[in-house]
Order: sequence, then structure tokens, then C-alpha cells
Amino acid sequence: MGVKDHSPSVASVPADLVIVANRLPVDRITGPDGEPMWRASPGGLVTAIEPVLRANRGVWIGWPGAVTGAVTGGSEAGMEPFEHEGLQLDPIALSAEEIEGFYEGFSNATLWPLYHDVVAKPEFHREWWEAYVAVNRRFAEHAADRAAKNAMVWVHDYQLQLVPQMLRELRPDLRIGFFLHIPFPPAELFQQLPWRRQILEGLLGADLVGFQLPGGAQNFVRLVRQRVGHKTHRDLVYLPDGRTVRAAAFPISIDVDNFEELARKPEVIARAKEIRDALGNPRKVLLGVDRLDYTKGIHARLRAFGELVAAGELDVEEAVFVQVATPSRERVEQYRVLRDDLDRLVGRINGDYGRIGSPAISYLHASYPREEMAALYRAADVMVVTPYRDGMNLVAKEYVACRYNDDGALILSEFAGAAYELRQAWLVNPYDLNGVKDAIREALHADEKDLARRMRTMRKTIKAADITAWARSFLEEMDIVRSAHGKALLPADKT
Ligand code: ADP
Ligand code: G6P
Repeated sequence: MGVKDHSPSVASVPADLVIVANRLPVDRITGPDGEPMWRASPGGLVTAIEPVLRANRGVWIGWPGAVTGAVTGGSEAGMEPFEHEGLQLDPIALSAEEIEGFYEGFSNATLWPLYHDVVAKPEFHREWWEAYVAVNRRFAEHAADRAAKNAMVWVHDYQLQLVPQMLRELRPDLRIGFFLHIPFPPAELFQQLPWRRQILEGLLGADLVGFQLPGGAQNFVRLVRQRVGHKTHRDLVYLPDGRTVRAAAFPISIDVDNFEELARKPEVIARAKEIRDALGNPRKVLLGVDRLDYTKGIHARLRAFGELVAAGELDVEEAVFVQVATPSRERVEQYRVLRDDLDRLVGRINGDYGRIGSPAISYLHASYPREEMAALYRAADVMVVTPYRDGMNLVAKEYVACRYNDDGALILSEFAGAAYELRQAWLVNPYDLNGVKDAIREALHADEKDLARRMRTMRKTIKAADITAWARSFLEEMDIVRSAHGKALLPADKT
């Protein structure tokens, strides 16, 4: 749960590293006694970037969640910069109209589905675009105010793609990086966007534009050449003003050691046992953990499991599916539809095949602290991750990080960025239900040696490429790109 909002506000001193992301790592909520409290924000961006900020002593500019009662104009009492658990945070308020047009509208009903293979149909509305431009400008102005001379500003994700260019106009002295946490779509889909050129130009304000996979970087460079007309060579874009922009892949990761440490804690081990006891000690526990999002393929995995139960291949007293799904973006229509669909599917499977005390699926709408997540990962024999499209999917990496005994099976969609690294998982096409069923069967019956061989290799992979290595490679690369055209040097503590 959250902690009380007792931290004093801190002065807006200029910062050498500024992280700019739509969300702060904590949401401001109202506690049971009516007092404001802070609660960890949802999603992979926060999981990945929080340790980066902690290690590099910067400031994080972002929105503290929909429940701040924001007012028009973006300022509100209690929205001054503050320190929270050692992190310097600088909140930006969003008005109700901005949340509707910029966040729920353009970010999550236009860009999110468009960038995720149009798994849902994107909507294009001119007033949402206007809100997107206005809010991006506010973030850029705020970052320009906070950044020290020659500072490094690192802008994150699809909600803020115009910020790099806006910021460069305000502060040409800055080194600006951008990282997209979600997939960058192929040209054929991106071209649908009426504001495609503005988005490309917005991103070109950065010195370095990072993507999860090489394919995303290639899509971007190709589009820049075709739609903006700049010269490109491999991963470089040459701008008429003499600047060079590099577009490259930096597959993101997690703080692997931190997750493993958590999973080794005696309390977490005890809690994992408690979870299995509470489930009636079935022989096998399957687990899914996601934001409640239509890209995650929750439907596909539950249907596959349901069919195995219906066919009598799995007995509900022997195998239980635990699906944890945190409600997300609940005012966006497609998310409401998904929630209702899943409620119906789970209800039907449990109604048809569950027994008293043994539902087939244990379905929880909840957001848990990290210890509880680690306990769930420890309790699960098979982790089922089946997105239709996902930039990376950190849940898959968290599961692997927690399996320090080299046991447990991972079923992973080939359409998740993580599938490019975690090759020893059971890779599946989530649209192919029979394929998902085969993978569940095989994972449930795999022998210990096979499981250990796969898990050992995957653990090596994530240990060699954890979040520290990721941040270092991005920040170093940003300096290389910048110094290549004679404008920047590494800050003292990074040389
Ligand atoms: P996305 O960023 O699209 O949500 P990721 O899998 O990359 O997907 O990251 C999800 C992050 O959110 C992970 O760090 C995961 O532990 C966390 N998370 C997901 N569901 C829950 C939940 N129910 N409670 C707490 N944390 C969750
Ligand atoms: C994904 C996105 C993030 C986003 C997170 C949670 O990880 O890449 O940018 O913050 O989901 O979504 P939300 O809309 O709640 O911020």
C-alpha cells in the first residue's frame, strides 16, 4: 500500500539528469483518513526506470495519476517538487480535459492501439491531437526549467514524442535522449496517423532515439527518409542543421539482482507456500500477471487452459490458473469491453468446470507490492505470458529472475520483445490456440532436467543484460552521438 505524504517539498534546483515520463513512479491517492498518500504506479516503464534514477541521482518529471484532482493550467497546491524514498520527483498536474484528450484519447485510444499492431482499432480525433501537442509543450517547458546547463534530459515513451523537438528549441545546449517502451510500428500502419510527420520530427529533436528492437529502429529510419525526406545511412539520420540523430535498439530489462534477492527472502518463500496452500495445494500452479490490457492476450491463455480442462486433460484439483490483472485505463472504452469479456469468460469456465473450493481459474483484480509479486512468481510452476504484441514484457523477465533454483517453465509469446532474448521459453503464437495448448501441455509435463537447462540459460541472459547495463549503454551512446558532432562531453561522474 501507500505511504503517508509527509516528505517536505524540495526546491527546484537545476538537475544534471532529468527523466521525463508521463507518469511519476508514484501515484498520489487519498488514503482512508482523507489524507494524501503515495502508491507505486503501474507498468513496466516505472519498474525499469526507477532503479536508473536511484543510481544516477536525477529528477523525474511526470504526472502523479488521474486522482490528483488536477486543475486547468497545470498548477495546483501540493504539486511542488518533492522527495519520495530518496527520489527527487517533480509533478505536473493534468486537467480533466487534458486527461481526456491527451491521456485517454490520443495516447491510449490512438497511439497505443496503432503502435500495437492495431490489436484494437485506433481512433483519430483532431481535438485529441491538439491536447497532445499542448501537454507535450507543458512537459517540454517544465523540463527546460529544471535542466542545468548542458544537462542530460531523457524523455520516455509514446505519450511524449513531441517533447524532444520542443525542448531542443527551448534549450539547444541540452543532450536529449528518447526511449520508446512500446513497439514502433511498421510504416504500413504508422502511415495511417494523420500527424505522422509531426511525430517523426518531434522524435528527431533527440540526439539518440532508442527502441526495444532493431526492427523498430529500422521502421523509424525508413519513415524519416520517406516522409520527412532527410538523408539516412544505416542507423543515422542527417538533419539539414548539421545534427546527427542515431536510432538504435536498447532492449530494456529489470533490476535482476533485486528481484532475486526478494525471491530469496524467507518471508517471500513462506508466502509462496501460503499461496499454494490457499489454492488447495494443487500439483501445478499456472500464473498470468498483467495490466488489464487487450494487448496482453489474457483471453487467449485462459481459453487455451479452459479447453484443456473441458477436454478432461487437466483436472481442476490438480492444476489451477491464477490470473492477476490490475485494472488499467478504465475510462477508455476498449478497456471496459475487455474487462467485461474476461469476467464473462472466467465466469463461464469456473461455472462449467470448477468444483466447490476448486475454481479452475483464480482471477484477481489487484495490484500487489513487489514482495507479493515475487511470492507469486515463486509459487508458480508455469508462467504464461501471451501478448498479441508487447514492446518487451518485464513480467517474463521478473519470473526468470525469481527462479533461482533453475526450475519453473515460461510460456512466452513470440510477439513480445522479450522473446528475442528468452529463446529457451516455450515460444507461442497467441493467435494459435492449439499451439498455446501444446505449449501448456509440454510445460506441465517437462522433466526437471529440461526445465533446468532452459531456465539456467535464460537466467544467464537476463543477468548479463540487466537494467544497469541497459541505462549505461544508452547514456554512453548518447554522449558518443553528441560528441561525434562536436557539441558534448560526458558529465564529470560518467567519464
Ligand atoms: P506493461 O508495462 O505493459 O504493463 P510489463 O510486463 O513490461 O507490461 O510490466 C508490467 C509491470 O507491472 C511489471 O513490473 C509487473 O511486476 C507490474 N505488475 C503487473 N501487474 C501487477 C499487479 N497486479 N500488481 C503489481 N504489479 C504488477
Ligand atoms: C506501459 C507504458 C507506460 C505506462 C504503463 C502504465 O508500461 O509503456 O508508458 O506508464 O504502461 O500505463 P498507464 O497508462 O497507467 O500509465
